Amino acid sequence: MIFTQGESRGNLTKHDLCTPALILDLDMFESNLNKMASCARDCRFQLRPHTKSHKCPVIARRQIEAGAVGVCVATLSEAEVMAEAGIPGILITSELVGKPKIERLMTLAKRHPDLMVVVDNAENVRQLAQAAEAHKVQLNVLIEMDVGSHRTGTAPGMPTLELAQVIARTPSLKLQGLQAYAGFAAHIVSFESRKAGSEEAMAKAFETQHLLKKHGIDANLLTGGSTGTYNIDSQLQGAIELQAGSYIFMDLDYRRIGGRGSDLYEDFGCALTVLSTVISRPSADWATVDAGLKAFSTDKPYAPECKTVGNIAYSWGGDEHGKLNLTQADRQVSLGERLEFIIPHCDPTVNLYDCIYAVRGEKVEAIWPIAARGYIPY
Ligand SMILES: Cc1ncc(COP(=O)(O)O)c(C=O)c1O
Repeated sequence: MIFTQGESRGNLTKHDLCTPALILDLDMFESNLNKMASCARDCRFQLRPHTKSHKCPVIARRQIEAGAVGVCVATLSEAEVMAEAGIPGILITSELVGKPKIERLMTLAKRHPDLMVVVDNAENVRQLAQAAEAHKVQLNVLIEMDVGSHRTGTAPGMPTLELAQVIARTPSLKLQGLQAYAGFAAHIVSFESRKAGSEEAMAKAFETQHLLKKHGIDANLLTGGSTGTYNIDSQLQGAIELQAGSYIFMDLDYRRIGGRGSDLYEDFGCALTVLSTVISRPSADWATVDAGLKAFSTDKPYAPECKTVGNIAYSWGGDEHGKLNLTQADRQVSLGERLEFIIPHCDPTVNLYDCIYAVRGEKVEAIWPIAARGYIPY
């Protein structure tokens, strides 16, 4: 059964759903969406939210309607899905290397002239330029800088300037700016430490932007930032476009980083949960639910947290099972009972599901396809 447009589901309620199911609390989601959008308006920064968190064109459309200038994507197939859904202003935030991806990129760039992609290497630039020339397109590129994550990106300063000069000499490419995503700073625990980390990273980006300008190269767009640093980066002396993604859903990984003057980071609420069913009651102190390793990503060292009943301790029980220790639980749970869990890490959990149930109260208002889940090869 494929739902394409976020269809209304009549009288469907949460209780009618087979589990495990990915649930989005629409009130919380809209509050998160609007909070970031109004912060962007008030602080005058441009928002290009990262869709790697949701991979869902319906949500991307809601972000654009709330004022985003476009969206970021992590993969070529995410870009294709978003473009097909009519989402404008797509920035591919990972380098696309090798002929198969470059050819597919050209097909997309031909149809969507506002598409942008990051680069960090002269050889990749040469191959992109050659393909762009052959396909008669002018490809928009941003130089990705390494501002501290040591994952991808050119070193700030001269190495970035040298690559910018190569691009400036290449007619089939247009340098639109710089990407400086300080991923390492996003999850630094404590607001003050996170602020120091992000400010140090972004200072390198501003200095490099200035260096390019001194050499006659305008790299006006400076894009980066995250859910964890939105209220830090938006206060910097210099214009930055924000790529935050997780803010619409939130998760345990983000909640624990702490906010301004608080132990929990609650600027945005946990809107995404996994709904499960108690399928066994082996003993008075134990229950088992139908949501295990295949229902949550397991890349973080935290277990899912039960939202329905307090003080239940979840542990992994296998692919399809989660074990619940009820020794400290606020109350007993019964066979067949539905329990919701806040997820450890939103992006890779969403990637496990075909659709999101968008719920208001108990009512399922819509079913949104996670159309860009996985990687779509051809
Ligand atoms: C390049 C890039 N930009 C932005 C983000 C969004 O970060 P967050 O979901 O923490 O807001 C990510 C997340 O991994 C990313 O890789």
